[in-house]
Amino acid sequence: MEHTPEVQKQYFQFAYQTGSDIWSHLPYRFRAEAMLPDLPKDSLVLDVGSGRGLWAAKLVGLGYRVLGIDYIEEVVKKANDRIRDEGYQDRARFLVADVLDIPFVDAGFDLVTDVGTLQHLTHDLWDDYVREVARVLKPGGYMLKVSLSRKTTRFLGWNPGASSDGEFTKFGVHYHFFTEAEVDHLFSDDFDIIEHQYETYNTQSDPGDAVTLLFTLIRKK
Ligand SMILES: C[S@@+](CC[C@H](N)C(=O)[O-])C[C@H]1O[C@@H](n2cnc3c(N)ncnc32)[C@H](O)[C@@H]1O
Repeated sequence: MEHTPEVQKQYFQFAYQTGSDIWSHLPYRFRAEAMLPDLPKDSLVLDVGSGRGLWAAKLVGLGYRVLGIDYIEEVVKKANDRIRDEGYQDRARFLVADVLDIPFVDAGFDLVTDVGTLQHLTHDLWDDYVREVARVLKPGGYMLKVSLSRKTTRFLGWNPGASSDGEFTKFGVHYHFFTEAEVDHLFSDDFDIIEHQYETYNTQSDPGDAVTLLFTLIRKK
């Protein structure tokens, strides 16, 4: 099936409806937490592509205030229900929105986090994505980005490590496996790269699959 933005959105919607969203259960949150910058309590964080809101809940537990955006209405509702059930509704809220058109004012956030969203945007949209993220961040604000890495050697029947461009499509969904150099280049105008780290996880996508994620902490100039 060919990739279109509509087919991809339907895929995410279906995955959340059926519980086949295996990404929600990858144990990336420990590494991501360890890489967070030292920010004052109550700092405001935007999580783009917030999914079920599990990472946002972790950030709330660390003392931050969090807004999450995702373009799948049902999962935004689930994330809001969950945060309300946990009694944190005054610390986190989820909204339906597109990461390419973030519905917030300029320079409002201390930190933006993205776990697994940029990798699903096609190359032609990357500059728009960076512009939006940079726009909503305060000067000196941070971004923690977690993406599929080109160091992955087996995932969904692919070997991204042997691929020259890291581009794949399955069920109409676009996947990009990043190199450090691509991330450095993409963010070079507006951000300073602080560090890259990697972690590999076995996944349930296919027996023997293991996905390597690239964690990058960057700071807006
Ligand atoms: C791989 S999932 C990761 C979800 C979550 N961050 C996590 O780690 O569990 C990617 C998420 O990005 C959302 N997404 C993809 N494209 C988006 C867009 N253009 N605007 C907003 N959300 C988007 C999807 O609905 C999905 O929830």
